[in-house]
Amino acid sequence: MSKLSVDHLLGIKYLTPRDIELIIETADNFKEIINRPIKKVPTLRDITIANLFFENSTRTKLSFELAEKRLSADVVNFSAASSSVKKGESLVDTVNNILAMKVDMVVMRHPYPGSSIYLSKRVKSRIINAGDGAHEHPTQALLDSYSIREKLGDLAGKKVVIVGDIMHSRVALSNIFCLQKMGAIVKVCGPNTLIPKHIESLGVQVEPNFDKALQWCDVANMLRIQLERLDINYFPSLREYTMQYGLTLERLKRLNKEIVVMHPGPINRGVEISSEVADSQTSIILNQVENGVAIRMAILYLLAEKISRA
Ligand code: CP
Repeated sequence: MSKLSVDHLLGIKYLTPRDIELIIETADNFKEIINRPIKKVPTLRDITIANLFFENSTRTKLSFELAEKRLSADVVNFSAASSSVKKGESLVDTVNNILAMKVDMVVMRHPYPGSSIYLSKRVKSRIINAGDGAHEHPTQALLDSYSIREKLGDLAGKKVVIVGDIMHSRVALSNIFCLQKMGAIVKVCGPNTLIPKHIESLGVQVEPNFDKALQWCDVANMLRIQLERLDINYFPSLREYTMQYGLTLERLKRLNKEIVVMHPGPINRGVEISSEVADSQTSIILNQVENGVAIRMAILYLLAEKISRA
């Protein structure tokens, strides 16, 4: 029986290709279970999990909570907006107080890059990074790779272009690590101002021309323009961005081939992707959301195996 090489899920950077395969294979079993009429299994009975969200989330928060409940874990939810963080309590104090209530695992989303790594060095609990600033979003990358594999059969040799705001995107970085570890070829595409200067050092190519990138790829992963992070003007206007990098049906029709369209959500309809494309047969956006539950069940299960119950 295989085990993960890590004690926490802090980023895809720290996983081996075998870890990723193990998570994906385990998720296959859980996907079958959550499609049964009775979806709940007793696997994590007596394990207590705290979901700490210091930043807004719909998909990640709900799917972790659902995954935990499907596995029969005890779940506590924490939202920074209604907590003593507002009175100045530190992250470590907050988490240690929660752990004093005998919590085994912490799922955390936090606006600061590296916050999950910081926490893992200071508290005695399994930590799962649910997105830390512009650093990593490992469960999103795992569910994205799972969804590509489900649609195309394999990841090895597949050509994936990640489009848009690469600079501020934890999804982009985690996807680059995950796809490359699984043998896919990755390009990034977007305005120069939103592509990090040394991105090629990660082994990805930059293709500034969106239509050429679409012609090249098997999969286009469209990123959200993060309006809340655009502190300066990275492009002249949203209208101009959409003209150059927005995925429309007209653009897809010009390809004379089918590609798989993905988006981590939330979508800015009519900006990076048109409604017709988002809701079309080529889009696997809702499959990604569905697969998120199975992937998160797999991660919780594999990390729980490493908890000493002595
Ligand atoms: N994809 C993603 O992380 O969405 P949420 O911010 O809604 O969790």
